[in-house]
Amino acid sequence: MSSKSLPIIALLGGTGKEGPGLALRWASAGYPIIIGSRQREKAEATAAELNLRLGITSIRGLENSQAARQADICILTVVYTAHQAALESLRADLQGKILVDATARVDFRDPRPPSPPAAARLAQDILGPGVRVVAAFQNVPAFSLRKNLGEPLHADVLICSDDPAAAQEIIRLAEAGGMQAYFAGNLDNAVVVEGLTALVIGLNKAYGIKTASIGVSGISR
Ligand SMILES: NC(=O)c1ccc[n+]([C@@H]2O[C@H](COP(=O)([O-])OP(=O)(O)OC[C@H]3O[C@@H](n4cnc5c(N)ncnc54)[C@H](OP(=O)(O)O)[C@@H]3O)[C@@H](O)[C@H]2O)c1
Repeated sequence: MSSKSLPIIALLGGTGKEGPGLALRWASAGYPIIIGSRQREKAEATAAELNLRLGITSIRGLENSQAARQADICILTVVYTAHQAALESLRADLQGKILVDATARVDFRDPRPPSPPAAARLAQDILGPGVRVVAAFQNVPAFSLRKNLGEPLHADVLICSDDPAAAQEIIRLAEAGGMQAYFAGNLDNAVVVEGLTALVIGLNKAYGIKTASIGVSGISR
């Protein structure tokens, strides 16, 4: 943990679209952030870009394996086709951590819901019981994360995990990033959340936008 007791967050594959968006939100909220990549130089370049945008110097860039080892919570944001290979290569580094799987196995060009099991269930099977896997952020558009930093995001987050305490921790993290988050059951349910991403992409295409997401109603807080 950092000196302020906020957990250190690593974005694994954090050089693309979704990872930097999440990193900006949490760095703005004061969380210590590490950008991970297969190449350290690429991670450092993304970290420098994000630091410049926020006027800070604290975001670091490391190779994925080192990023995972130094973090308390790791967010997997590699391209979905690399999901299994990335997890297998990081298995040892992730032991004892919370791994948040943001993967939605949906092809942007032909958006269809994926078949079970959920990506996050596959992740838990690959990583074993020493890693607390949480599925989250699959429906949160990268475009929206980067826009209007400091303002609440109009995107709700469905959180699935077999570990309710880990899920609560990620609900707090989502809220720190300006999102509303809700516990939505165990890891098997996450395949439905991935399928919603196919709908979200379809909505974006139909309305010529990049900001479609989902909202939960009927729960008073
Ligand atoms: N884009 C969105 O709006 C959005 C929204 C919600 C969820 N998601 C999910 O978030 C994840 C990332 O999406 P994205 O749009 O950010 O993807 P992306 O920009 O296409 O790629 C993300 C990163 O994946 C890494 N990568 C590529 N090939 C790899 C390989 N063979 N092995 C390991 N890493 C590899 C790259 O990092 P390095 O080259 O630096 O290693 C790349 O920067 C996906 O699972 C997606 O479903 C995306």
